[in-house]
Amino acid sequence: MKAGGAADARWMASAIALSNRARPTSHPNPNVGCILVRDGPDACRVVGHGWTQSGGRPHAEAMALTMAGGAARGAHAYVTLEPCAHDSTRGPSCAASLIDAGIARVSAAMLDPDPRTHGRGIAMLEGAGILCDVGTGARDARAAMAPWLHRQSMGRAQVTLKLATSIDGQIALANGESRWITGDRARAHAHMLRATHDAILVGRGTLAADNPRLDVRLGGLEHRRPRRILLSSGASAPDGWELAQSADAAARLPGIHALLVEGGAGAAAAFIAADLVDTLILYRAPILLGHGRAALGDIGLASLAAAHGRWQCADIRRLGDDIFERYERVRG
Ligand SMILES: NC(=O)c1ccc[n+]([C@@H]2O[C@H](COP(=O)([O-])OP(=O)(O)OC[C@H]3O[C@@H](n4cnc5c(N)ncnc54)[C@H](OP(=O)(O)O)[C@@H]3O)[C@@H](O)[C@H]2O)c1
Repeated sequence: MKAGGAADARWMASAIALSNRARPTSHPNPNVGCILVRDGPDACRVVGHGWTQSGGRPHAEAMALTMAGGAARGAHAYVTLEPCAHDSTRGPSCAASLIDAGIARVSAAMLDPDPRTHGRGIAMLEGAGILCDVGTGARDARAAMAPWLHRQSMGRAQVTLKLATSIDGQIALANGESRWITGDRARAHAHMLRATHDAILVGRGTLAADNPRLDVRLGGLEHRRPRRILLSSGASAPDGWELAQSADAAARLPGIHALLVEGGAGAAAAFIAADLVDTLILYRAPILLGHGRAALGDIGLASLAAAHGRWQCADIRRLGDDIFERYERVRG
């Protein structure tokens, strides 16, 4: 059950790229990608590919097998997560379907943490004489499925806090004006971020100041409609919005694997103070605002020492005139 070589790594990378197409629409299921490859006389040939469909079904393997038809016989399946072993009312298990289709070999990037499948999918396949390996591309597959894995292990959504700031860390002028701080490229990038999240949250102050649409304004992705959440202890949510009365309640709303918090300072501080932010994204524009509105309200910090060691810079690059910075929360 050992993972394979360079060609296997490349095919698995393609399957992982497909798995990203299922973000964020695959919930309640994980976003999985699958490629079926057959050896030919001169070269390998892809006979089927798929990713988890909206609402969680069909699974990636089912989509790839449907595409391949009879050509699946003898193929090598690359799957970003162990094929499921449990039948459901919505269809047979993927392990059973791969066996029935005559697949010769299965490479899975990682075992499924779901106890109904964990190890059982591979055992079923091996029991049917299929050669299996686990681990190729595991790190990247894990990253692609991070929100789903996070929800499984922590019981809450993976939370990303995104803020657009000036060089001096302000998110608005003192009078509340904040449109726009960053340029076109940073704003397009932020819309891509929206497209990969199940839900977007803002505080009541931001709703009142900006009345944001929180939609995805990118060609080809306009159909992505993240849920809109209002953070407020008392206000009622407008039509089409949901209300969360605390940061913790928002992070635990059912059906959300990836939650994007778009400010303002009060909402951002609430999530930081509750230690609910896993990823912090800053779009920093080359402007100075001086006495404006700081990016964060009170986060209850008692000493400078307590501020250190909590965040690690994971990415930094230019987007037009602006700087993109991504920080990950250091845990454990
Ligand atoms: N540059 C950027 O990236 C960016 C992004 C967003 C907003 N902004 C700007 O930021 C400004 C708004 O920021 P803001 O700090 O005034 O407002 P805000 O953070 O959007 O909203 C504050 C409100 O959120 C609710 N809230 C906060 N913490 C809570 C908690 N723990 N539990 C329940 N509710 C909680 C409270 O509503 P209730 O009082 O109803 O309980 C609070 O009054 C605007 O000028 C806007 O343009 C900038």
